Amino acid sequence: MRKKIVAGNWKMNNDLTQTEALLNDLRKQRKTSFAEVMVAPTFTNLWHAYEALRKADIEVIAQNMHFAENGAYTGEISASMLKTVGVNTVILGHSERRAYFYETEEMLAKKVDTALAHKMRVIFCFGEELKDRKSENHFNIVESQIKGSLFHLKAEDWKSIVLAYEPVWAIGTGETASPEQAQEMHAFIRKTIASAYGEEIAQNVSILYGGSVKPDNAAEIFSKPDVDGGLIGGASLKAGDFFAIVNAI
Ligand code: PGA
Repeated sequence: MRKKIVAGNWKMNNDLTQTEALLNDLRKQRKTSFAEVMVAPTFTNLWHAYEALRKADIEVIAQNMHFAENGAYTGEISASMLKTVGVNTVILGHSERRAYFYETEEMLAKKVDTALAHKMRVIFCFGEELKDRKSENHFNIVESQIKGSLFHLKAEDWKSIVLAYEPVWAIGTGETASPEQAQEMHAFIRKTIASAYGEEIAQNVSILYGGSVKPDNAAEIFSKPDVDGGLIGGASLKAGDFFAIVNAI
């Protein structure tokens, strides 16, 4: 059975003091859950978060990394830097990285390869913009994003890949894809993977939904058969809201 996952993407929020407060709340409020739980603090707080959450069954993950092993890439973070602070999972291809930092499908393919070479798990994000949905081009966009960065992988690599469908128009906007829209796209994604890698791999890959998931809409979205959890932005910054979403699985 494929894994259920709820991951909180804290983005560029929370300095060390705020991070400590949130980590404390997470520790206090953590209960056993059906889903795997992960949080992605900013780079400077990863080690601190790892130490704080190591006994709480909450995995600390990174929001990004560079594809190179090391070298003259001022301001960047490598896979081995992440691994030595306890991070084994990385979010790649978030729409904010694509939009503001010009990450391309080719660049993301290299990042995925580097992560896998370091035996890391990847949460690979993709999703269409509003103009694509309006022009009914959303399936084509999503297909090309997945193919462009992931279809060079070998079959066995897929056990380290988690997908996150995040329609750009729903991120941080308060607008969510309807549960039906999410299900329709997730089923399409699974079909796309099955066409290249076969039904078994497609059935085993977890596909998360992201985009304004909140405590009051999570249960309905998660009830859809091809939605295996969520990547949560704004609502992951409060432990109570985040765990309400975790418990909605
Ligand atoms: P949001 O962000 O929940 O604030 O919409 C989701 C994401 O960017 O992963």
